[in-house]
Amino acid sequence: MATYPKHRMRRLRNNAAIRKITQETSLSVNDFIYPIFVTYGKGVQDSIEAMPGISRVSIDNLGAEVHKAYDLGIQAILLFGIPESKDSLGSDSYNPNGIIQLAIKEIRQNLPDILIITDVCMCEYTDHGHCGITESGSVNNDKTLDILAKISVSHVQAGSDIVAPSAMMDGQVAAIRSSLDQNGYIESPIMAYSAKYASGFYGPFREAAMSAPSYGDRQTYQLDTANTREAMEEIRLDVEEGADIIMVKPALAYLDVISAAKSKFMLPIASYNVSGEYSMIKAAAQNGWIDEKRIALEILTSIKRAGADMIITYYAKEAAQWLAKTD
Ligand code: PBG
Repeated sequence: MATYPKHRMRRLRNNAAIRKITQETSLSVNDFIYPIFVTYGKGVQDSIEAMPGISRVSIDNLGAEVHKAYDLGIQAILLFGIPESKDSLGSDSYNPNGIIQLAIKEIRQNLPDILIITDVCMCEYTDHGHCGITESGSVNNDKTLDILAKISVSHVQAGSDIVAPSAMMDGQVAAIRSSLDQNGYIESPIMAYSAKYASGFYGPFREAAMSAPSYGDRQTYQLDTANTREAMEEIRLDVEEGADIIMVKPALAYLDVISAAKSKFMLPIASYNVSGEYSMIKAAAQNGWIDEKRIALEILTSIKRAGADMIITYYAKEAAQWLAKTD
């Protein structure tokens, strides 16, 4: 093996052009999916304290919100709905006139080309905040599957392009695939939150979506943060059940899981750069402790480098602007 002085690694670092041409990973606006929180009411633009720059918006403000992202070159959004009333069965989640169904229609009218991805879960719709139907304090897996399938069909009926089940119920991808197919939606892809960890990084999101569980936690359905093989098995099952895109979530503390998934599976991989990851950078930046732009782009690049083909990130709009300027 050749060594120094014949080999000098610094030769390829000498100027910007040579660094650019040898760069292994590149980040682009095409990689981003921008999450949006839609809420009931009129004229609402409620900023979320722990997520500076991110708000809950009502449907009448949604067109403008989505336009801003679209005009920056962002081609995909991920929608979360916050209904006016919650009940134990989360019934607003599959209401044809529910918050998310109306939001989808509104966006479709405004921007027919944008890719609309919708989160399929019950926690924003249930009064107990769990991701499924509860019975004597625990989530009943199989009863929840029927609801998740109903939610998915109602989203696609309203115009959603991709449904993204995030409830972490066993068999959810199979249940959704078969319901979509039975209803004729054979071409609608499923982006499966396959390896979704029981993470502390979702804290700010739960404030934003008002979806914190009123008792207990999500450890009986989300993954143990210490495990990788369990994640590979979750992904394998989702692939076999018919997932089209698989997801690792959160991103930053799970780069090894993204990398392992990349080498084992051939489907596109999404990774969710979640609320807590966003809040940490924002908080440090507001204190003047870090260079926000540099750190946010470094982190997004690391998620891509680990193997993600697409990144769901609250930084999508800012990063799109930063990337447009440096190009
Ligand atoms: C719904 C859902 C959650 C997130 C996305 N979908 C919250 C949770 O599981 O508690 C978190 C996203 C984020 O933190 O940005 N189940």
